[in-house]
Amino acid sequence: MSKILVTSALPYINGVPHLGHMVGCLLPSDIYARYMRMKGNEVLYIAGTDEHGTTSEVGALKEGMDVQAYCDMYHARHAKTYKDFNLSFDYFGRTSSEQNKEITYHIFEQLDKNGFIEERTVKQVYSIDDKMFLADRYITGTCPYCGYEKARGDQCENCTKVLEPTDLINPKSSVSGSTNLEVRETKHLFLNLPKLEQRLSEWIKTKEPFWPDVAYTIAQKWLKEGLQERCITRDLKWGFPVNKPGYEDKVFYVWFDAPIGYIGITKQWADENPETRDWKDWWLNAKDVRHVEFMGKDNVPYHSITFPATLLGTGENWTQVDYLKGMSYLTYEGGKFSKSEKRGVFAEDAIKEFPADYWRYWLMSNAPEGSDASFSFDLFAGVVNKDLNGVLGNFVSRVLKMTSSKIGDTIPAGGEMTAAENELISVLQKRVDDYLKYMDEMEFRKAMNELRAIWVEGNNYISVTEPWTVIKTDEARASAILRTCINLIRIFAILSAPVMPEVSASMLDKLGLNLKDVPSLNGFDVKKEIMSLKAGQKFVVGEMLFERISPERIEELKQKYGSAK
Ligand code: 2FM
Ligand code: ZN
Repeated sequence: MSKILVTSALPYINGVPHLGHMVGCLLPSDIYARYMRMKGNEVLYIAGTDEHGTTSEVGALKEGMDVQAYCDMYHARHAKTYKDFNLSFDYFGRTSSEQNKEITYHIFEQLDKNGFIEERTVKQVYSIDDKMFLADRYITGTCPYCGYEKARGDQCENCTKVLEPTDLINPKSSVSGSTNLEVRETKHLFLNLPKLEQRLSEWIKTKEPFWPDVAYTIAQKWLKEGLQERCITRDLKWGFPVNKPGYEDKVFYVWFDAPIGYIGITKQWADENPETRDWKDWWLNAKDVRHVEFMGKDNVPYHSITFPATLLGTGENWTQVDYLKGMSYLTYEGGKFSKSEKRGVFAEDAIKEFPADYWRYWLMSNAPEGSDASFSFDLFAGVVNKDLNGVLGNFVSRVLKMTSSKIGDTIPAGGEMTAAENELISVLQKRVDDYLKYMDEMEFRKAMNELRAIWVEGNNYISVTEPWTVIKTDEARASAILRTCINLIRIFAILSAPVMPEVSASMLDKLGLNLKDVPSLNGFDVKKEIMSLKAGQKFVVGEMLFERISPERIEELKQKYGSAK
């Protein structure tokens, strides 16, 4: 058993998540956490809302709310949505918590003490019409590197280059659209990344064999280009006031305290039950913790460079990331999700249309790994109708209905294994091994493909063995076949549990079983599991597992959620 710390990028509090956010970090992290638990590991799965910065200040202003009340309201909405999607966090916290403040202050003090904090007078963009310094992401303009016209002042989402707002060509305020901007002088604190470069590159070398290509390549690109000092304070009200004399009226930059939020949120979790939990067991001088992080590719530079360097600069022994899974983007019908333009499916609405598992399976089997992926209702309905309903749902209902009508509502007694069962076991074992290997490697698309192929083997087996014909002449053999099929239902439920926990639970429920009683996925042995259910045990046919989506419904959904632009 290993200790595995699983974290998902902390979603910005403002606004509500769409399917792209779900698949970009939250869902894969949940599937991995569930999978690792089912392998018998001690898992701590942490996420929460990223609450500071101008985004919240401006969001609250637009909704006529106090920032704290605004964050409380959105935090609750995020938490509810993720609960509806069955994300199995051990704790879903907040970067604005007292615990996070305490740890942020400590880390800052260590960095300052160790000489990695510099004071600089900088020129910053002030919006005369908005009467405020504009946070980097609230200035938009053309990226000087790739020419993308909607680049934000903190980062170009097109080429992932991290920017300073003054780099932008034709800048404007995205609070008001005003171009009435001027550059003013203000004092700020900087993290001296160049001074940490040597340590960082030595640390990254230790990760080389473990990091997937996308993260390692981005990190290497950054190092090659040379690290720049990064400003870690802002002229804002909403955030942690800087704990250094002369800077009390400024706050830490959101990207300084957000990743520290993983630690702060772990402390929130620990503080709920201090007798049994200690955040340090996971973060400070922690032994044998493997930290796996999930995030969109735009987050990779922060988690492979800035945050690790921040932790290294403290001179303390913090848990660093061991594996960084960076995901690309999901588009909606080939275009961008946009709340304001009413285009795209947002998670709160998605869950009202279909159960979480439909989304979970579709999103993971189309996960934007390596390259971007596109959601469309046609593709979604195709997968629900063919893979979920057609392959898995039909198998379960056909087997249970046939057994019930021809033999009765208990697991039939098994007969001898024949060549057909031996063939099934060997084909299935190979597929199960591949499925588990892809899950270990976090290759989710490939894993879902293999899972579907596992379900298909059930249909192949029943087509080849034809219990409906056999029963006319040999009831014992037909019983043995159906008993094998019912055992397959149990096996499919266990293997599907990380991605479709509710469907798995209802499959097991039909057999009078519970997810708590299932064997570990570590070294899953098909030969043993296929004989697991005892003859005479009751089952119920119950409802179909999935509902087909009709062509009319697809049209309705397309109208309701908008088409691509
Ligand atoms: O990109 C985002 O949604 C950021 N809020 C992620 C922050 S992750 C944290 F760990 F730093
Ligand atoms: Zn760019």
